[in-house]
Amino acid sequence: MNACFEAVGLVARPLAHGDGPAFAAFGESVAGYGEGYYGLDGQELRSRGARHWLLTPRRPRLLALGLFDARGAIAGVLEVIVHHTMPDEWCVVLLLLRPEMRGRGTGEAVYRAFEAWAVSQGARSFLLAVVDSNPRALAFWSRLGFVRVATKPMTLGRRTHDGQVLVRIVCPRRREELAAYLPQPVGQRQAVTSPA
Ligand SMILES: CC(C)(COP(=O)(O)OP(=O)(O)OC[C@H]1O[C@@H](n2cnc3c(N)ncnc32)[C@H](O)[C@@H]1OP(=O)(O)O)[C@@H](O)C(=O)NCCC(=O)NCCS
Repeated sequence: MNACFEAVGLVARPLAHGDGPAFAAFGESVAGYGEGYYGLDGQELRSRGARHWLLTPRRPRLLALGLFDARGAIAGVLEVIVHHTMPDEWCVVLLLLRPEMRGRGTGEAVYRAFEAWAVSQGARSFLLAVVDSNPRALAFWSRLGFVRVATKPMTLGRRTHDGQVLVRIVCPRRREELAAYLPQPVGQRQAVTSPA
């Protein structure tokens, strides 16, 4: 399958059914993250992840990218929803690296390469939510230029957390579009878009 982008020796491409064995090894390495934030044990996390990410052709707007190293192992996953609440808005659902990959600049390099690629595909703004109990992730996204626009409870698996919604705008017109969109009543909002 075609690569979407590359960063620090990792190739990002959509996960597929045949990635099951590599995904199982990745799932084991991130089991602690699933227990902490989702309240799911390692086995539950792996089977939910496999259902959700390896079968994404069933959900056309969901992009589940594996970050593959030179040996074909999965170093991380990046889950995105394309055109989330507005056209050309991409929601970063999750960026999750194997624990031994963290804290060395990999996440930043991957996100920057992803964003450049997404912009080349038409993305104009990025949205994500971070739980308050993950201050390092909040610091990470803030450094990458995301700003808080709302606070809200977030349900992940069996757990509910307080969280923050962060946005990063990469196209100046999107600022005006969001200014017209956000004040509308929730549930009745109409996307406001102008030509790119
Ligand atoms: C968040 C994450 C993708 C960042 O990638 P990374 O390669 O570790 O980050 P970088 O090395 O580019 O940048 C370092 C910064 O990332 C953040 N970070 C580092 N380790 C982290 C960890 N274990 N968990 C969360 N954030 C971390 C911190 O802000 C750190 O800066 P600091 O060292 O000054 O505290 C990665 O740490 C990770 O997978 N964490 C667990 C999953 C997660 O929390 N994802 C975000 C959910 S919204």
